[in-house]
Amino acid sequence: MNPLDSHIDDIRAQFKMLDHWVYLNAGDIMVPGNYWLDAARDYYRFQECGRMEDIPTADAATHPFLTPAWQECIERGARLINAQPDEVTNMYRPAITANLILYNMFEWHDGDNVVITDLSYPAIPYILQDIARRHGVEIRVVRHVEGEVPLEKMESAIDGRTRLVAVDRTAAFSGFTFDMKSLCRLAHDQGAVVLDDAMQALGAIDIDVADDEVDLLISGSYKWQCGPEGAGLFYIRRAFMDTVDARFRNYIWADVPGGIPFADPHHDNLASWDHPPVNNANRFSQDTVIGPSLFGWNATLKFYERHGIGNIEERVRRLGTYATERLQDIGCTVTSPLDPERRHGLITYTNGDYDRDLEFFRRCAAPGRCKKPIRISMRALGGVGNLRVCTHFFNTEEDIDTLVDLQASMR
Ligand SMILES: Cc1ncc(COP(=O)(O)O)c(C=O)c1O
Repeated sequence: MNPLDSHIDDIRAQFKMLDHWVYLNAGDIMVPGNYWLDAARDYYRFQECGRMEDIPTADAATHPFLTPAWQECIERGARLINAQPDEVTNMYRPAITANLILYNMFEWHDGDNVVITDLSYPAIPYILQDIARRHGVEIRVVRHVEGEVPLEKMESAIDGRTRLVAVDRTAAFSGFTFDMKSLCRLAHDQGAVVLDDAMQALGAIDIDVADDEVDLLISGSYKWQCGPEGAGLFYIRRAFMDTVDARFRNYIWADVPGGIPFADPHHDNLASWDHPPVNNANRFSQDTVIGPSLFGWNATLKFYERHGIGNIEERVRRLGTYATERLQDIGCTVTSPLDPERRHGLITYTNGDYDRDLEFFRRCAAPGRCKKPIRISMRALGGVGNLRVCTHFFNTEEDIDTLVDLQASMR
């Protein structure tokens, strides 16, 4: 018995909007949780206390990246993915951190290649198109087979000139979820680095970066992680970090002996700062996580610790299977992998016809008198997708029944 099952009503009470919507849309953007709304308000209360002074004044610092919450998020985030705290920093959103990674952490050479898939969310391919143009890098796109990307196809695409394998751990538009450990082994055998966009996976499933041996993981808190917009987790594997000489400097994270020298009468803006960045993942911090998001993210990570990612994953997967089976029972075509090992609760399906899917999508927003709207997404990429249903741990079988019954009435 999953301990979350017996207090699911308390969990749902954290998400006020669930009173008004049948919400099956965590893969898009999450409804706010009281735990992080309260924490975000706490940040503003803290500011109202007038603690605007900065170091070296002996008082509480108010720059978000100087508050204890910054380090607490790092430590909690590291525990969540089984990383060391010095391998994790805070970030805003994948598209921004991917720019730092791709432009500033790699030395590209003509003839290098990067392997992606045709299910990759466009944020990274969009940057890679520019990298390809500037540096003569080849983008190799591995095509999916019925919504899945076979490892053998990845293996055939990766060779000795592959610098990077960049994949979405879970594909936003089909739900296909990589066996990252096997993929990393293939990539590392050829000397390639693996970038894991875990935006559609972190918060839904238990991720163990140490066991998988991914080199870089990026995410954001506002989807399956059930957190606020504006925060997330950036993991850099120590073995990779030690090889990188990034074209990126943030003076906040300069490793100045004795700390930031603002009160030093000999403070010189070159000599005092002539030190390398700190020897941890904060050297790659863009400090883009602002106060309310940081406090909210910290509260979200605490919420996750309280409920246990293993328990959360079990519910996500169980409900994903339930949705898959019920949709198939009424004759819909599920385009997500049917093997539960290769997906979690991100389920895509179709009525076999775009217009019918669109009609149902619109109907969800207005299902009839005295009924809650149902929130799902319409998403397609690389020839798969259409309707996307996300079963998160706060959802129930009744949520799925409501969706499937409405769908059945339109078939
Ligand atoms: C795999 C993946 N990466 C990234 C993003 C979005 O990233 P960003 O918040 O940087 O736009 C999404 C959004 O759906 C996604 O599914």
